[in-house]
Formats: sequence, C-alpha cells, structure tokens
Amino acid sequence: MKTIDWDSLGFNFVETKSMYHAECQENGSWKNGGLKPSDNISISPAAGVLNYGQGVFEGMKAYRTSKNRVVLFRPEMNAKRFAISLKRLCMPEIEVDYFLNAVEEIVLDNIDYIPPFGRGSLYIRPVAWGTAPTLGVKPATGYTFMIYVCPAGPYFTGDIKPLNLYVTHDYQRAAPKGTGNVKAIGNYSSSLYPLSMAKKNGYDEVIYLNAENEKLVEEVGSANIFAVKDNVLKTPKLAGSILPGVTRQSVITLAKEKLGLNVQETDLTLEELLVADEVFCTGTAVIVTSVGKITLDNTEYIINKNAIGPIADKLRSTILGIQREEHEDSFGWLQEVQQSKE
Ligand SMILES: Cc1ncc(COP(=O)(O)O)c(C=O)c1O
Repeated sequence: MKTIDWDSLGFNFVETKSMYHAECQENGSWKNGGLKPSDNISISPAAGVLNYGQGVFEGMKAYRTSKNRVVLFRPEMNAKRFAISLKRLCMPEIEVDYFLNAVEEIVLDNIDYIPPFGRGSLYIRPVAWGTAPTLGVKPATGYTFMIYVCPAGPYFTGDIKPLNLYVTHDYQRAAPKGTGNVKAIGNYSSSLYPLSMAKKNGYDEVIYLNAENEKLVEEVGSANIFAVKDNVLKTPKLAGSILPGVTRQSVITLAKEKLGLNVQETDLTLEELLVADEVFCTGTAVIVTSVGKITLDNTEYIINKNAIGPIADKLRSTILGIQREEHEDSFGWLQEVQQSKE
C-alpha cells in the first residue's frame, strides 16, 4: 500500500486494495459476489448502462470514531434506497442484507485506507449497471453490482463558509413522475451543465425548482434544502422528484426530538426561502451547511447576514457528535464494522 498523506486528501478517486463485484442474469439471482483486486473493468460498448443509462448508485461513508471504532451511519437506509432505485430502472433486486454484507466486506478489506479519526472518511460507492449488450431500448439481460471505496478528506477544510447558491429557471433537475426520487445516473449527467455554469459564475451550487410549479423549491444539485422561519423548520415534501436523503431524514428527527422544533415536510415557496431566518443544505457530503446567499433573477438575497445559522450549527454539531461517538447514539444510527461475526 502506498503511503497516504491524510492531510492532503480531497474528494478525488484514489485506488484502494480491492473492489466488490457480483453478477446477475435477467430474472436470476446475484452470483459470484466477492472481492477482487482494484482494477479497470472490461465492458461491451453495447452495454445497457453505456447506451441507455441503465445504472444507479449510492454514496455513503465509513469512518473512525473517537472510540476508535469503524462505523457506518444508517447504512440500511442506503440499502433500501438502492433497492428502490434498482426497481425504478428495471434492474434485479439486491436484498438489504446482501448489500450490507457486501459493504462490510469491502470496508474491512480496505480498512487501512480509512483516515484517522477526524481526518476524513472512506467514501463508499455502490453501483449497479446493465452490462449485457443491449442494442434496442430495453432492459439489459445481464447486470453487474460493484462497490469501490476511496479515502476522502473532510468536505470542507478550514472554516466552514455559508454557501452561495443560484436559483435556476433555465434548467430543471427532475419531473414529478420521473426519476428524481432515485439515484439514477442520468439525473446527475443532466445536472453537470447547470452546475458548471453556476460554478463559472462563482456560485457553489444550483437550487432547482419544481418542474410543474416554478414557485416551489425542490433541492440543491446533490443535497436537500431546509428553511427556518420563526422556529418552524420547513423542507420540501417528498413528492416524487426529490431524493429522500438519509441526512434529510436524520435532521428531521433531530430537529423534532432534540431541538423541539416544529418541522414541516410541505411545499416550500421561493418567497419563503428568500425571507427565511436561516437556510441550510443536508447531505452525506455537506452534512448540514448554511446557505448565506441566494441569487434569483439577477438579485442577490442575503440570508442571516451571510453567517452560519444557529439551528444549522446545532444540527450539524449534533449529527457530527453522534457520528464521531462524542454524543450518545440514542436512535441507534451507527453500525460498527467488525471483523468476523460468524
Ligand atoms: C440529488 C440529491 N439530493 C440529496 C442528497 C442527499 O442525500 P443523503 O443525505 O442521503 O446523502 C443527495 C446525495 O446523495 C443527492 O444526490
């Protein structure tokens, strides 16, 4: 293993020791699941995933805690979301336990790549693709499930700054009955152009509006969004086009149970967003991060004086405290990754 400079880790691909690989024929069951040395893979140019985007993925993390344990955060939620994504893209089911065992296996085999406590995490990327040649537009006859892992530094280095977001009327992320509520790879390819335009103009990310009614807020490119007004915390309801984030769900629980806030999963209008006391984003990568500026139709709106909001700060430290095992895991969200449980 090459020596890793833990302090210079970003979010870039770094090859590790091994990857998990399993195969499945249409209407069959997953076979030959196991670890292989990390390497490139060989695939037909006619593969369903390459031609028709028949692919889904997940994103999760394993990290060391203050008790020097290696843990996953609510991995069964990723397993269930993966299963829903697979179904939506006509791909064979992967049972929750199969998924979780594969994740444990790959994490254990690559344990040396998990950064020391507080210096990042092992990012885990499960993917499933239609890999059999598929000339016509139809589901593939053969599938591949893989998991690769990658050491990643903290998403933000140095001080956490509030985000500067851009509301787009030019692009939509997902239609109400489309694939926005699953992690289909095509959702992300179509977000690359709006994101690169936003970055070119100095913004961190894009806020997408509801495709049916552009007065309603949906989510940020790869995070969910929340707004606080007078101690009411609102987040767009899951109506088919929003990804049900694991962090979103955890924040809703913590805001209700630990902060005693009135939490509403409802319509969130653009007007409400722009006059909110606080706005923040949630996701595996950003955890909970305040939004300080929102630009809409060439007007910049400053939220909470472009400072980190007190509620976002509290939620962030609560969730991080649980993840680092510095606070009690009262909801049983952590799952330890352990050697041989047989
Ligand atoms: C479109 C989108 N929304 C929200 C999220 C946040 O989800 P989670 O909290 O599960 O990371 C993600 C990241 O996976 C995403 O890609």
